[in-house]
Amino acid sequence: MNQTTRRNFLAVSGAAAAAGAVFSGSGIQSAQGAENAQADAPKSLFASAVVLQNPTETSMSASWTLNGYATGWIEWGLSPDKLDQKACGAVWGLKPYSDRVISVTISGLKPNTKYFYRAAVRGIDFRGAYKIIPNEEVEYSEVNSFTTPGKDAKTASFVVVNDTHEVQDILAREFDLAKELKPDYTIWNGDLVNHVEGHETIQNAIMDPGKRAFANDHPLLVGRGNHDTRGRWARYLDEYLTPWKQEDPKYAALGYSSVVRHGDLALICLDTGEDKPDFRKEWGTLAEFEPYIALQGEWLKDVMESDAVKTAKFVLVFCHIPLFDPRPDANPGTLEYGHSAWKKLGAELWGESLQKAGVQAVIAAHVHHHRVDAPTETRCWTQITGGGCALNGATVIHGKVENDKLKITVYSVATKKAVTELEFEPRKIG
Ligand SMILES: [Fe+2]
Repeated sequence: MNQTTRRNFLAVSGAAAAAGAVFSGSGIQSAQGAENAQADAPKSLFASAVVLQNPTETSMSASWTLNGYATGWIEWGLSPDKLDQKACGAVWGLKPYSDRVISVTISGLKPNTKYFYRAAVRGIDFRGAYKIIPNEEVEYSEVNSFTTPGKDAKTASFVVVNDTHEVQDILAREFDLAKELKPDYTIWNGDLVNHVEGHETIQNAIMDPGKRAFANDHPLLVGRGNHDTRGRWARYLDEYLTPWKQEDPKYAALGYSSVVRHGDLALICLDTGEDKPDFRKEWGTLAEFEPYIALQGEWLKDVMESDAVKTAKFVLVFCHIPLFDPRPDANPGTLEYGHSAWKKLGAELWGESLQKAGVQAVIAAHVHHHRVDAPTETRCWTQITGGGCALNGATVIHGKVENDKLKITVYSVATKKAVTELEFEPRKIG
């Protein structure tokens, strides 16, 4: 753990700070040299910064990882000096307790409103059912803020990173560039990992990428990629990346299919699943993405009819696997061999909704190559794919709605210069 980086998002409580002071003055440091001090320093219980997620007009989720067994909560309020509300994340009467991750949802918020918060962790020595000993010290993150979505926002912006595949240098560069762009939302558009093999994978590739805080002052939206579905631990990803809470119970089986309306912009994330059909032997009978993509099609029809989307001047869709490929021989993801260059099933089951709504752009990933597919007479949306995880091709895509225009700029991560600039007009509404 890089202590300097960690200090950037941690503030230790009075009691813990006092413990640290005692430790520094214990004589060990002077006897063995300063180089031992860092190794001997009390380890923070925070293993990552807070990752804000699932922004709605009235709620926000927050997750962070741990270095030991602890409980945790969020203190929040309208002013940094008055964090007078508390979200403790209890489920069925049980507050969080884990040595890996804490996840809390803050509710009772108002639209387009700035809130301040800090995360808290308290170590727990859980010796038995009725022998649970909480630490005296509480450790706090620094105070940060977020703004809830709301139609009244004057501007709206986002960044997209994709296909980061656990590459630490690329993660560091992409999130540094993303931070400079000060987005309202970050969309991580799939292939966060190569395959999910355990907590360490999720910790290093997702929760503490490049040892950086990347979503503690604005929320993350997740577009799951095909690689994120692979590996035994793919089934535990939802403990860290909280699924979107669907209002309608018939869509409860959907994971990260989300819709956010902020200002004139509606952002819709869809999950294109694996890049091979369900019947393929690679999946050893464990895949059922096709009905899942179909259910998202039903969800999308409803979403397009919602007030949040119907009244938005700009509607964008984010999904990992492209919904179109200009090459006639490109693999559509339905074959007995190879893997998808594009997702024919998604195009078939979602395409009509996208067309009917007049979606301006689909932002995709997966092909590790930035390209722009212009609209055609039968397809109203521009498709933009982000680059891959090699420095010379990696991209950060930035979009901003301001003064009745949507401007999308694709930046090269290597040069930080714009390689594509596009401007979109408002949709016809009604
Ligand atoms: Fe992919």
